[in-house]
Amino acid sequence: MHPDITEILFDADQIALATRQMGQQISADYAGKKLLLVTVLKGAFVFMADLIRNIESPVEVDFMAVTSYGAEAKSSGVVRIIKDLEASIDDYHVLLVEDILDSGLTLNYLRKNLKSRKPLSVEIATLLLKEGKQEVPVDCKYVGLICPDAFVVGYGLDYAENYRNLPYIGILDPKVYS
Ligand code: IMP
Repeated sequence: MHPDITEILFDADQIALATRQMGQQISADYAGKKLLLVTVLKGAFVFMADLIRNIESPVEVDFMAVTSYGAEAKSSGVVRIIKDLEASIDDYHVLLVEDILDSGLTLNYLRKNLKSRKPLSVEIATLLLKEGKQEVPVDCKYVGLICPDAFVVGYGLDYAENYRNLPYIGILDPKVYS
């Protein structure tokens, strides 16, 4: 285990199982529909890569990158799009793929932004949900794992761009950021 990690919350097998189950559900729900997975860089890229290989129906992918206004560590929900989708989405069912749903402010903003482009539908799939932390109601169609209220890293999730390469999700030692 990495020395900065105090506890492994989800190991590679648990993550793989949750991803497989979500992929199967998505395959069933979107069979015969034109599906586009949209991921917000960077945190969800590892999850996206595994999720797509568990979806049997045809699927396309696209990526967005956003940056928060202001310097606060806490999400304000008001974001600036620094990389937008490559094409219009008006004839797609869109599934927004997230790594972790915390306050929900970012996702809420992005869902509204995508909806304004008039796709056939917009739903959310998140690997992790921090239960009870949402400051706005976010209707998530697919949730992989319930996460305690702690700062977690690994499997794509970072702190200051580190730890994304860990194959598990663990709690970061508060000493690292305090
Ligand atoms: P929200 O707008 O508060 O829901 O923020 C969601 C984003 O904040 C996620 O996509 C992550 O990039 C980041 N985030 C929230 N909680 C954590 C965490 O525990 N570890 C790493 N990143 C986090």
